[in-house]
Amino acid sequence: MNDELRIDTALTHAAKQLSDASDSPRLDAELLLCRTLDVTRSYLFAHPDDTLDALATERFESLLQRRASGLPMAYIEGRREFWSLPLMVSPATLIPRPDTEILVQQALMLIPRESAFSVVDLGTGSGAIALALANERPLASITATDCSKDALAIAQENARQLGISNVEFRAGNWTAAVTENQYDLIVSNPPYVAENDPALAALSFEPQTALRSGADGLADIRLLSRQCPTILKPGGTMLLEHGADQQSAVERILLADHWTNIACVTDLAGLPRVTSASFNADIDVSNPSSP
Ligand SMILES: C[S@@+](CC[C@H](N)C(=O)[O-])C[C@H]1O[C@@H](n2cnc3c(N)ncnc32)[C@H](O)[C@@H]1O
Repeated sequence: MNDELRIDTALTHAAKQLSDASDSPRLDAELLLCRTLDVTRSYLFAHPDDTLDALATERFESLLQRRASGLPMAYIEGRREFWSLPLMVSPATLIPRPDTEILVQQALMLIPRESAFSVVDLGTGSGAIALALANERPLASITATDCSKDALAIAQENARQLGISNVEFRAGNWTAAVTENQYDLIVSNPPYVAENDPALAALSFEPQTALRSGADGLADIRLLSRQCPTILKPGGTMLLEHGADQQSAVERILLADHWTNIACVTDLAGLPRVTSASFNADIDVSNPSSP
């Protein structure tokens, strides 16, 4: 790229450069140029013949190379919107997915607007689910946990930047982070990708501990199914996100652990995505095999 490049020419070249790495190369090129020049997209459209000086050209080229190597836009920008909240993300956090908004929708149907209610989000990552719920239901007390202290630091910073104060953060391994408590609602989007899933190749920049879960992708869901009865209030509900092909397996796991009222809802693409369950209060959770 020469140092007298016009905006329109720079964008055409850049979109070509990103065509292998991105499904939306033109948009990515525009966003990266906005970031380089600190202007809006409408500025780019209004000033196609402005030129980039040498420093801007160098900065733009460096961002393009990072994107062309496969680094997701969210990590380059350090931000991703979830449930209309601008969230900070880093390579320590999963990039929140639109599918997870289904879990938020389901949770909001259960959390009253006008009274106290306790929720725990196990494996909060950037805080996406916990912060969306907390923002929509200010009277609810939300606890957000993660085994990754780096992810938890990002989630805490997101809460601070958004001015959300009804979320408490705890570090720890699944329910070990909250053993002394019981909640009205447990929500979790745990890792659920099988170790040998070819889809992992396209997700190499995201934290693997947020994605991989044993040979069949169900190791963490098995742990949650076994551990969560002890932290659920009688009459409470658990909502678990899972893979589109895991509905039956998740149902079998939950049934074997004496969960009841098991039901699955589909995501935006019509694929099974979130399973809800409650726990049979007659079961002794310290010895689940005895009715
Ligand atoms: C699929 S990501 C979900 C992140 C976030 N809730 C979201 O929906 O964007 C799973 C999260 O679970 C966390 N995690 C993985 N294993 C865990 C464990 N044993 N205990 C607690 N958190 C765990 C990961 O660090 C990651 O943040």
